[in-house]
Amino acid sequence: MSVLTEELRERIKAEFPKYPSKRAVTLPALHIVHDAMRAVSTGAIEEIAELLELHPSEVHDTMSFYNFFKDEKHPLGRHRVWVCRSISCMLRGGEELLEKLAEKYGVHPGQTTADGKFTLEFAECLGACEGAPCILLNDECHMDMTDQSASELINRL
Ligand code: FES
Repeated sequence: MSVLTEELRERIKAEFPKYPSKRAVTLPALHIVHDAMRAVSTGAIEEIAELLELHPSEVHDTMSFYNFFKDEKHPLGRHRVWVCRSISCMLRGGEELLEKLAEKYGVHPGQTTADGKFTLEFAECLGACEGAPCILLNDECHMDMTDQSASELINRL
């Protein structure tokens, strides 16, 4: 039985004309699968490789290089919360913010809450240093965060 749905396969194939080679579609394909399935399983890697005419190890190398994609043993929660810990945010309490959120929700950075609600991550500069400390909640940047305002955002998820 196939791991990737027909829809995911079609979405990956739709990327082919945009790139000079199928190999160049590796990252877009990983993103498509990761977004939809909240992880890229070994089976998904094999099927992506087949579509791209690559060896599964080549897809796995790309996937593991970025430390962004989760495997099936550590799937993403429904939301992803990135706390910036680069210099501007660090100087304005970013590391403490990350620690407090980790403690409050019982996860270490990189882990998903037991209820699968969100995955907590640390981020490098989010490009919004003027609003340090900031967090990225899914694709939305929130600035001047305190542990209280960050918790309010998370609780609203
Ligand atoms: S250091 Fe955090 S946004 Fe730049």
